[in-house]
Amino acid sequence: MLKKKERYNVAVVGATGAVGRRMLSTLEERSFPVAGIKALASARSAGQKLPFAGGEVVVEELRGDAFAGVDIALFSAGGGVSLEYAPQATRHGAVVIDNSSAFRMDKDIPLVVPEVNPDALKNPVTIVANPNCSTIQMVVALKPLHDRFRIRRVVVSTYQSVSGSGQKAIDELLVQSRQALAGEALEPKVYAHPIAFNCLPHIDVFLENGYTKEEMKMVNETRKILGDETIEVCPTTVRVPVFYAHSEAVNVETEKKLDVAEVKALLARQPGVELVDRPEANAYPLAINAAGRDPVFVGRIRADLTRENAVNMWIVSDNLRKGAALNAVQIAELLIRRLAG
Ligand code: A2P
Repeated sequence: MLKKKERYNVAVVGATGAVGRRMLSTLEERSFPVAGIKALASARSAGQKLPFAGGEVVVEELRGDAFAGVDIALFSAGGGVSLEYAPQATRHGAVVIDNSSAFRMDKDIPLVVPEVNPDALKNPVTIVANPNCSTIQMVVALKPLHDRFRIRRVVVSTYQSVSGSGQKAIDELLVQSRQALAGEALEPKVYAHPIAFNCLPHIDVFLENGYTKEEMKMVNETRKILGDETIEVCPTTVRVPVFYAHSEAVNVETEKKLDVAEVKALLARQPGVELVDRPEANAYPLAINAAGRDPVFVGRIRADLTRENAVNMWIVSDNLRKGAALNAVQIAELLIRRLAG
């Protein structure tokens, strides 16, 4: 169990990965009270140096005994690693904040977006799950609408960047883009098909119901985070040739009478949201502007002309930040605030 301290020993598991590197930089940017930092990855990366707090941290091989003395362990090395090592970390007394899908739907494990359901985090806690990136940015925008109008149904199509599949996918888009422009054949490795100059309606594996696992994460995690099993979510998730930030076209239908001006006012006040909605100035959220930034950007807010009590919007956020590393560090901040309070 986490005990109140001035400063905490923090481990990042998967520190060399796309999310792990952001976890280190986010801890630093937000001046998280770090006493000591451990960067853990596979044996392949042991000895590699990563920048941290003006200096460097040497990557260590992930082993169970690496968690001795660790207070908070941020995991982002895939579900298999989390299943194997999170219990070892908690046995050493660390609180685990896990970015994989391994524990998200476990009813005893809180699934937390600090601006949305902070009260799900109850001490004593051993493992906290960080939601899926596409779900996080959507629920931050849905929360004030659900509180005010009660959401009945959400139809969402995503336009997800390749960084969500890790560093290898970032490299693949770069290589394939160059190959395509040079007229060379594209060789897919990370994805089933070329991603350069293409859109793939296929994220994570296909399930028996015809949806992908990514799509069902959006269905189930949205309900768990908003605490309402009756919300209907109808998702299509698509990988697009964008490096950073996910975009989403979202149609929201509510029970109570919905007013578009009020929707805008609610979103403008919602912590974590930045409204970018001035069509007259061609101003709306864009992936290239969201990349490297913290907020969930919302724009193109307009009434659904075919239905009462429904609104359309465009939600964009950096999937490695709010969709992963930032949300995980915010959970850690919430944990230590609770101890301080
Ligand atoms: P490594 O760089 O040593 O392979 P990404 O999502 O960008 O691909 O990053 C995945 C992260 O998870 C990397 O830091 C990677 O380390 C780490 N990782 C993957 N598999 C393991 C494993 N079996 N044990 C420890 N770390 C792992």
